[in-house]
Amino acid sequence: MTLEFRPIRKEELRQFAGVNLTAFGEALDSWHEGWFESRFDGSTTVAAFDGAILVGSSMSMPVTVAVPGGTVAAAGVTAVGVLPTHRRRGILRQMMERLLQEASSQRLPLAVLWASEGGIYSRFGFGPAARSLGIELQHPKAAMMLRPRTGSMRLVSKEEAVEILPAVHDRVVSQRPAMIVRDRVGWHYALSEEDPHLPRGEAHLFIVVHETDLGPDGYLVYRIRPDWSPRGPENTLVVVEMAATDPAATAELWRYCTEVDLVRRIEANGRGSRPVDDPIWWLLDDPQAMVATMVTTLWARVLDVPALLEARRYQQDGAVTLGVGDSADEDGSRFRLEVEGGRGRCQPTKGPADIHLGWSELGSLSLGMPCLSQLVAAGRATASSQDLARRADALLGWGPAPWCFEDI
Ligand SMILES: CC(C)(COP(=O)(O)OP(=O)(O)OC[C@H]1O[C@@H](n2cnc3c(N)ncnc32)[C@H](O)[C@@H]1OP(=O)(O)O)[C@@H](O)C(=O)NCCC(=O)NCCS
Repeated sequence: MTLEFRPIRKEELRQFAGVNLTAFGEALDSWHEGWFESRFDGSTTVAAFDGAILVGSSMSMPVTVAVPGGTVAAAGVTAVGVLPTHRRRGILRQMMERLLQEASSQRLPLAVLWASEGGIYSRFGFGPAARSLGIELQHPKAAMMLRPRTGSMRLVSKEEAVEILPAVHDRVVSQRPAMIVRDRVGWHYALSEEDPHLPRGEAHLFIVVHETDLGPDGYLVYRIRPDWSPRGPENTLVVVEMAATDPAATAELWRYCTEVDLVRRIEANGRGSRPVDDPIWWLLDDPQAMVATMVTTLWARVLDVPALLEARRYQQDGAVTLGVGDSADEDGSRFRLEVEGGRGRCQPTKGPADIHLGWSELGSLSLGMPCLSQLVAAGRATASSQDLARRADALLGWGPAPWCFEDI
């Protein structure tokens, strides 16, 4: 088997999309075809060919990702798939190496992706960098604590939503590491009722905006899963997406969910899943009405350590030397970070490392998750002392917690 790896030509896009969908066990349809067409220009593709047959797809889209206190341009790796006939022969490895090389040559400091299976990407230096809570709430009316209302809620059409929601989303991006800036194409797909993944009978999206005197500061997109039992209505309200710039607006959006009549259950999973610091647990009179599941969302791969650590901000001053990768003792693998006034200066150093960690673990730290002590406890990083690991957590960690619901 002689394999060739190269970017695809525009006329091969349909075949490329078909291979990707087949790898995921899905059929190519006009919705997916439209998505690939809208994302092709400006993206890097690497496809694998066995003779004339396309057998592997991968792609990297230009994205803007929030880091603590700012944003960076990044490679958004997506559309990764290999036909079942050609798996475990190194095709993904070859495609990924080419995508990461290309991203580095574009001087991008970071690559990000969502993983289908969590066991795949650590070997390529990606680490889980954001997580969310999937939430299920039973008998929501009884569970919610009464509190004074703030602002007002307004149901809006999809046409109004594409005018109002992006500004709120942009402000959330500016507050939350790991969020991904959403362009017009992204909004089109986020609010599409044609999405083949939406179950029939639940495809209608309701959109509600929370407003105060200062304007919109939160929105909720939801659908209703209908269920009528002999006891009457037992509908489920499915949160498709909820975002707010203010905790009071988040609380009002939750209140709205619980006040929709005929609903016995609320689900917030997938794109609707919530940041780990969401206030919902504290909004409940009966916290046992809620069950939360922690899920991994965005994976990050640091490509340029000094560029990334200088692009983000810090909530404390301090200094640390990181030794990264298997060759962390070799020159070029150690980086000295010095933070003053919340801004970092980072350069390669020949000095000894305070902390040794792998590329995947650095990826997990990169967006502000304060997980270094836990990585040390898990044996995935070493620190010269526990105290130093805790201080590094405080230096590299960020609040609010990283959160990403944009499944690129
Ligand atoms: C995941 C997928 C792309 C892997 O492609 P592949 O060409 O078989 O992968 P490779 O042969 O290059 O494997 C590279 C390494 O990853 C490992 N790997 C591959 N798929 C894996 C999986 N699903 N879980 C864990 N490890 C995996 C291989 O064992 C190999 O490990 P090693 O080289 O360190 O020993 C392919 O199985 C696929 O298309 N799956 C369905 C669609 C999908 O999940 N795509 C990923 C979207 S995020």
